Amino acid sequence: MHFHKLAVVALSGLAIAHPGAHHEHDPHSVASKRDLLRNSRRALDLCADHLEKRGVNDRARARRAAIMKANEKRAIFSRDTDKTVNTSHHSTLQVSANTPESELFSKNPTCILAPEGEVGPFWVNGELVRSDIRDGQPGVPLILDGQFIDINTCEPIQALWWDVWSCNSTGVYSGVQSDVNGNGDDSSNLNKTFSRGIQKTDADGVAHFKTMFPGHYSGRATHIHVIAHTNAHKLANNTLTGGHISHIGQLFFDQDLISKVEATHPYNTNTADITKNIDDHVVIVETEDSTSDPFFEYALLGDSIEDGVFGWITLGVNVTASHDSDASYAATLTASGGVSS
Ligand SMILES: *[C@@H]1O[C@H](CO)[C@@H](O)[C@H](O)[C@H]1NC(C)=O
Ligand SMILES: *[C@@H]1O[C@H](CO)[C@@H](O)[C@H](O)[C@H]1NC(C)=O
Ligand SMILES: *[C@@H]1O[C@H](CO)[C@@H](O)[C@H](O)[C@H]1NC(C)=O
Ligand SMILES: *[C@@H]1O[C@H](CO)[C@@H](O)[C@H](O)[C@H]1NC(C)=O
Ligand SMILES: *[C@@H]1O[C@H](CO)[C@@H](O)[C@H](O)[C@H]1NC(C)=O
Repeated sequence: MHFHKLAVVALSGLAIAHPGAHHEHDPHSVASKRDLLRNSRRALDLCADHLEKRGVNDRARARRAAIMKANEKRAIFSRDTDKTVNTSHHSTLQVSANTPESELFSKNPTCILAPEGEVGPFWVNGELVRSDIRDGQPGVPLILDGQFIDINTCEPIQALWWDVWSCNSTGVYSGVQSDVNGNGDDSSNLNKTFSRGIQKTDADGVAHFKTMFPGHYSGRATHIHVIAHTNAHKLANNTLTGGHISHIGQLFFDQDLISKVEATHPYNTNTADITKNIDDHVVIVETEDSTSDPFFEYALLGDSIEDGVFGWITLGVNVTASHDSDASYAATLTASGGVSS
């Protein structure tokens, strides 16, 4: 019924978003996704018990456990896309660019149970380890804090490498020359690296980026891509080697926040149709039949949206999983610039 309708939306969304490039894999079929979500649900339910038994000395963990426990009463296969999309993630927390992570993750955490979302057609392999990834691009400043939790041990994952990428304010990704990414004749874009970077998590499983709020392009809701590398090492030239990809996903923003950003310059010069969260096939895949909430909690950094946004999110990752074979890339950043795949 309702579910079938959304499944159809999901499939048609995929066709619009990725002409020619299909990144759908069997692990993402509805049946196997249900198995995966049921497994991660069980793992996270176990985490809730584990965390509660640890006592209340760690407020962040206790809060996460409480949220997971509250979710236990829901039916495993209830479809939660509407509910998640309609939930406001606007925090009442007063934050600044220097708000400590203990504040963010103890007072108002959100939780995504790491359902895998497709890598999409615009990942660039070999990106730089750096936290400020703006490269002078215009737009609304965005500070991102991500906290990663091991769903098998319920502990923060230290030394995970968080790889992010998103489009710029007018909907174009750096590092990729393609007809479905801005001007397909613009080879200079191959050497650009804006809104791409990698950061290592600290002892609390947290890493930070300074970026620009992404714009939008046809067929997709505003999103930020995530790859989590585990057991990787940093080379002298600030790139990663080795390890595995333990998680691939996409993270989202509340629709009213997106509207505020899109009303500002230069976002408002983009004539591509806006796809709402509720109609986005990856939002649906990551939220239906699950309790996961792949939306950033956020607070504004000033009186006006142009002052910037602080977004934070907790991600549960299965570190024993390897999604290396799902991580197709459009290009590789090398010592002599970007090279198309
Ligand atoms: C979500 O909001 C839309 C309108 O914005 C409404 O049609 C829909 O019923 C809402 N769903 C839930 C579960 O509240
Ligand atoms: C977004 O990136 C594309 C490709 O590099 C560039 O042509 C465009 O000018 C950028 N948008 C803005 C607002 O700078
Ligand atoms: C974690 O990944 C491993 C290896 O793919 C898999 O066997 C296991 O079922 C996964 N655990 C959960 C909770 O999904
Ligand atoms: C970094 O070093 C590795 C190993 O030598 C090389 O393959 C890669 O192209 C280099 N990347 C950059 C951006 O310089
Ligand atoms: C990219 O930068 C390299 C130098 O790092 C240069 O040799 C190459 O010509 C540039 N490529 C493009 C397409 O501009």
